[in-house]
Amino acid sequence: MFRVGVLASGTGTNLQAILDTVHGCDGIEVVGVASNRAKAQALDRARRAGVDAASFLSADYADRPERDRAVASWLADRKTDLVVLAGYMELVSHGFLATFPMRVINVHPALLPSFPGLHAVEQQLQYGVKVGGVTVHFVDEGVDTGPIILQQAVEIPAGRDLDETLERLHEVEHRLLPTAIRSIAAGSVSIDSTNPRLVRVEKE
Ligand code: GRF
Repeated sequence: MFRVGVLASGTGTNLQAILDTVHGCDGIEVVGVASNRAKAQALDRARRAGVDAASFLSADYADRPERDRAVASWLADRKTDLVVLAGYMELVSHGFLATFPMRVINVHPALLPSFPGLHAVEQQLQYGVKVGGVTVHFVDEGVDTGPIILQQAVEIPAGRDLDETLERLHEVEHRLLPTAIRSIAAGSVSIDSTNPRLVRVEKE
């Protein structure tokens, strides 16, 4: 079995896509969902799917590394093979990444390396881009700087409305993130032997 842990801070539509299209398929199981927010809707989605859910609030820990150690050990207890950041609005600390080396991925609503960080969609609209997109990448210690696994371009709707743009991007995220998880679980994702930035993905 390939065991997936998910970290989410918000509404959790990406988590829902994972639960609907990956969980319980091809030997992949979501074994736990953790959040930095007690009221994250993602936690309800997990519980509804019968998946363990827990919140780790920064107020309960001395600092972020200590909180991340607690999250990492909760995921390690569930023998997590891959950690998916699905709208997790915090950086993960060095110790967390050391526990799961090259086993943490993130979905970002822009074509990295353009528009990293928070508010990427608003910034793309403000900048006037005509084509945005979605990136799924491995997480390193920088802000959205890890090696890119999958990317897909998304045309910005003519009206340039924020909600409509978010909806288009979400549709793509909900396909691209499950595809990346399936590919990693299938052993189809590797790092190029001569370029550690280049992620090779065999076609499904
Ligand atoms: C997504 O747009 C993702 O790219 C970003 O956070 C958002 C999370 O949305 N990192 P949801 O909670 O999955 O609906």
